[in-house]
Amino acid sequence: MSLDPNQSPVNPARMHQPDQSMVDLIFEYVNGRIGLPEAPIDGLEDRDAMRIAMEGMIGSAPKDPAYVMDIYENAMSETILSADSPRFFGFIPAAPTKASLLFDMVVSAASLQGCSWFEAAGAVLAENQALRAMSDIAGMPQSAGGTFVSGGSAGNLSALVVARDTARRKRAEQGLPLYPLSVVVSDQAHSSIKNALNIVDMQAVVVPTGDSGRLTSQALRSALTEINTANVVAIIATAGTTNAGIIDDLAAAAEIAREHDWWFHIDGAYGGAGLLDPRKRDLYTGVELCDSIVMDPHKWWFAPFDSAALIYRDPYLAKSVHTQDASYLDVIHDTDSEVLNPSDLAYHLTRRARGMALWFSMAVNGLDAYRDAVMAGNDMARYAADSITKTDNLELILEPDLSVVLFRRESWTAMDYDNWAEDLLQRQIAFVTSTQWQGETVGRLVFLHPGTTTDMVDQVLATLI
Ligand SMILES: Cc1ncc(COP(=O)(O)O)c(C=O)c1O
Repeated sequence: MSLDPNQSPVNPARMHQPDQSMVDLIFEYVNGRIGLPEAPIDGLEDRDAMRIAMEGMIGSAPKDPAYVMDIYENAMSETILSADSPRFFGFIPAAPTKASLLFDMVVSAASLQGCSWFEAAGAVLAENQALRAMSDIAGMPQSAGGTFVSGGSAGNLSALVVARDTARRKRAEQGLPLYPLSVVVSDQAHSSIKNALNIVDMQAVVVPTGDSGRLTSQALRSALTEINTANVVAIIATAGTTNAGIIDDLAAAAEIAREHDWWFHIDGAYGGAGLLDPRKRDLYTGVELCDSIVMDPHKWWFAPFDSAALIYRDPYLAKSVHTQDASYLDVIHDTDSEVLNPSDLAYHLTRRARGMALWFSMAVNGLDAYRDAVMAGNDMARYAADSITKTDNLELILEPDLSVVLFRRESWTAMDYDNWAEDLLQRQIAFVTSTQWQGETVGRLVFLHPGTTTDMVDQVLATLI
């Protein structure tokens, strides 16, 4: 299609006036995209052609919306991998429900912010309902509460700020040094934990997990005999490591945290949703004892980017640490309401009511549908693991706790895995990435989309024989 890029004349008022033709243009695209039975993997479109097509896009004069949208659809969109394809098995995929995607548009269309009870009571209550559902599933007390932040990294960081400042307060009362402080983590903790510790100026005491990749009671206790724990203020366990989907021994971590009066944080950004699978529930024993937990709706709770639930056992501790004070904000703090302001519970102030897409989807689908969808991911991982075990030149590296499968292809080097991934992408069979396990490059498949079929998995495994 050849479209005239220019739209004249310049008209600043147009920016805020209803424009039915632009509404129709965007809705037509959205309708088509949301109506796709299976999102394609994409990611292949020529990037140089895209650069040329996008040259001069933003200038002082307006461009025709149809022209710009055409460039998006035909030059840009297909350079972007669709993490919501049921054939996307790399990193941590996404699989937002149709309801959550649609309601996310409502949040945008109505400019819904979710800062405070004063400004946005309905949004705050809706988000709190979704947080309540999640914290009930985790078995946390009724006093637990939190907020939705942009992602797991932001959630881990905000929780560690509370852990640090709560510890500092206690230590100041006890006359203990406030610097340096350190945190016990496993060698499998997500990279965001290392970054967060760097930002909050705390040191990591790294516990090696060995072949199991799991932070066990034994690994923890033996590591603790070798370190000086005087400066430790927190322990972080992972409920579903990113690399291998392993759930740490949460009960052991909770017990050690209690013994030492340390903060106990759980990074369940990916794997927290596994709590919904009753067959896996025992693996999470001790989750209910955490001081804070992060679970990302934009991962396995089937919500759009960007959304992470950050839940505290005692949200008032978070409020005392994160609340921003300024005279122009007094109005949101001078309230008799017992409902806490989401803005006061993490490192943010203005915030999109990003939990509402999850809330709407939970309401219209019901939590049993969420349970079944999470179980489907775990079932698919089991299917892939069993198929790998039955195949001669493939070896399963670990029995999957959740929906990540690591495997070895006999005699393959790192380059073979890269070539394999490239070939699958070129043929749009799947998006896969390799990883490292104990220093070796291995294959990694992550299952999260309930639309993934055994046929799709078979097609991938057939390319490994
Ligand atoms: C266990 C874990 N923690 C934290 C993160 C970071 O989350 P985000 O990418 O939403 O910042 C991830 C991302 O995959 C993760 O798997």
